[in-house]
Amino acid sequence: MPDQPRKPFLYVVVCASGVAPGVGTLITAARERQWDVGVVATPLALGFIDAAAIEARTGHPIRSAWRRPGDPRPLPDPDAIAVAPATFNTINKWAAGISDTLALGILCEAYGAGVPTAVLPCLSTAQAAHPAYRRSLDTLREMGVRVGGQDPDQLTSGGFRWEEALDLLDIRPVAGG
Ligand SMILES: Cc1cc2nc3c(=O)[nH]c(=O)nc-3n(C[C@H](O)[C@H](O)[C@H](O)COP(=O)(O)O)c2cc1C
Repeated sequence: MPDQPRKPFLYVVVCASGVAPGVGTLITAARERQWDVGVVATPLALGFIDAAAIEARTGHPIRSAWRRPGDPRPLPDPDAIAVAPATFNTINKWAAGISDTLALGILCEAYGAGVPTAVLPCLSTAQAAHPAYRRSLDTLREMGVRVGGQDPDQLTSGGFRWEEALDLLDIRPVAGG
């Protein structure tokens, strides 16, 4: 029997936000659109998510720390990256080129590697008012990052629109899927 063609691979980068426990919604939606998914969590995000449930859903280990030299690569290279939810902290460090978590290391290299990347910020009105945040979003847009997300006041009323990350990456529903 011929080998099945490899599905495209999406990294979902999860930050330490109150909405992070809902990331399964994004994983399921991406898999329904015939993408394979691996989760990269910031170290603090590990405290917000059910790692065992996510690993069962994706079939891949969650990555949060760098592997040791000589260890095999736990995930294939990404065809696209969705950063959802993205915190104030990670957004500002990413735009500044800081790489002190594996998630940030992957995001900082994604630009040079030309990997399509979308970000759904999730932060408070007070955080969004900080001038560094506006500058960071400008920088990310200049880098070609596709920026989505809602106004902070809409987050509490309408919930987090996870699937917007897939739409920004042109990961479309599959006919009959
Ligand atoms: C319950 C809880 C919810 C949080 N939600 C958010 C959030 O939605 N957005 C945000 O920017 N920070 C939020 N924070 C603060 C971040 O967890 C904190 O800034 C952390 O340093 C972010 O780390 P990371 O960017 O490496 O994931 C929250 C903290 C707690 C304790």
